Amino acid sequence: MKDESFLRENNARQLWHPMGAPGDMQANAPKVITRAEGVRITDLDGHSTVDAVGGLWCVNLGYSNDVVKEAIAKQLYELPYYSAFAGTSNPPAIEAAHAVQELFAEDGMERVFFTSGGSDSVETALRLARQYHRLRGEPTRTKYISLKKGYHGTHFGGASVNGNNRFRVNYEPLLPGCFHLPSPYSYRNPFHETDPVQLAQNIAAAFEDEIEFQGAGTIAAFIMEPIQGAGGVIVPDASFMGLMRDICDRHGILMISDEVITGFGRSGDWSGARHWGVKPDMMTTAKGITSGYFPVGALMVNDKIAEVFEKDNSGEAGIFHGYTYSAHPVGAAAVVATLAETRRLDLKSNAAARGTQLFDGVQKLAEKYDIIGDVRGGHGLMTGIEIVSDKAAKTPMDMPTMKRIHENAYKAGTMVRLGAHNVLMSPPLTITEAEVDVILASLDAGFAAA
Ligand SMILES: Cc1ncc(COP(=O)(O)O)c(C=O)c1O
Repeated sequence: MKDESFLRENNARQLWHPMGAPGDMQANAPKVITRAEGVRITDLDGHSTVDAVGGLWCVNLGYSNDVVKEAIAKQLYELPYYSAFAGTSNPPAIEAAHAVQELFAEDGMERVFFTSGGSDSVETALRLARQYHRLRGEPTRTKYISLKKGYHGTHFGGASVNGNNRFRVNYEPLLPGCFHLPSPYSYRNPFHETDPVQLAQNIAAAFEDEIEFQGAGTIAAFIMEPIQGAGGVIVPDASFMGLMRDICDRHGILMISDEVITGFGRSGDWSGARHWGVKPDMMTTAKGITSGYFPVGALMVNDKIAEVFEKDNSGEAGIFHGYTYSAHPVGAAAVVATLAETRRLDLKSNAAARGTQLFDGVQKLAEKYDIIGDVRGGHGLMTGIEIVSDKAAKTPMDMPTMKRIHENAYKAGTMVRLGAHNVLMSPPLTITEAEVDVILASLDAGFAAA
């Protein structure tokens, strides 16, 4: 590797970063993370912090899982790559599909299609939803409904169903036929409804209304995150996903549960849909599927969809979609090892316990700091803190203050993530009680410096 002075000098010169303005990155050079161990990361200055971001909602096993690292290394020597396009397969891919399906069998998931990440999984789901309806003889079902504040990645399909304008405006026009319902965000919503139960019912009514307006026979699928992650950790009422499921069923609309963050234990259950007692038609996953050690995603479908594709007589069931790295043998080996470790360590239970500790701790901080407008979480290791400059008016905090909070929390020992005026946290699911206490103490220091 090049020496430190090269890294400092060239940081952000040639490399354009996702989700940042190139000029801004040059003016404020990104932190260079050089090492990681357990749940801690270390930067180029040697400063070590607890990683409350979990890489990017993905390093569920922490950074030191040798089982996964060794599985990846071993597979690189056996078979570093071979295509899985129709006609060829590889042993780890067969094993990985079996392991993924087994983990989500309780959710009704029967088949697995591997991708290279979350956006790919969402794109695959949206495309296969249309093909499913065509195969069933309803080719007019092409539209998608989703939730505002939702995040479904950055491909054109995913961006079109995304519910945050930051990811949309510069890239328009997006896919036609995508419509959005209000988010189950009780702190701010167009109904001015603070009761989450009533809000869930209002959104369900809006869904019914939209279906009537569009015509059920034109809608292919409804996509939602069980807990909206990047949009600010927005936790709906426990009734919400079930209400949406019933409406989808009554109108022949497929339900896609986007589990890219919530899958593999983060919500306190193996899937977010299971957390709410719902069985979707499709699940999109990535992140925790390899704990971030290798880029892999997966779409899963239930038997209803599998049957339509597998029993087709029209000759149109060919999936002319997929990626060079779909079912990549090294990625698949990472999946097999990650899932074995995820189950062995029962990550979902630690996520539930430590998630409650983090949520309770932040709620205590909210009593101390008026700038904390809303605290969201309490369902696994996903916590969002909405920061405001005026609590009564709910005025979003300005960016310089947000950056000050971020920097001071970092100095005090924790890396957090900012999503506009929200502090977002999704630490590794292996985190200990003492490490959650470090996060809380760092946040305290960050807010004190606001
Ligand atoms: C719910 C959800 N869907 C899709 C994606 C996109 O995944 P990726 O960044 O791997 O393409 C993300 C990423 O954070 C996500 O949170």
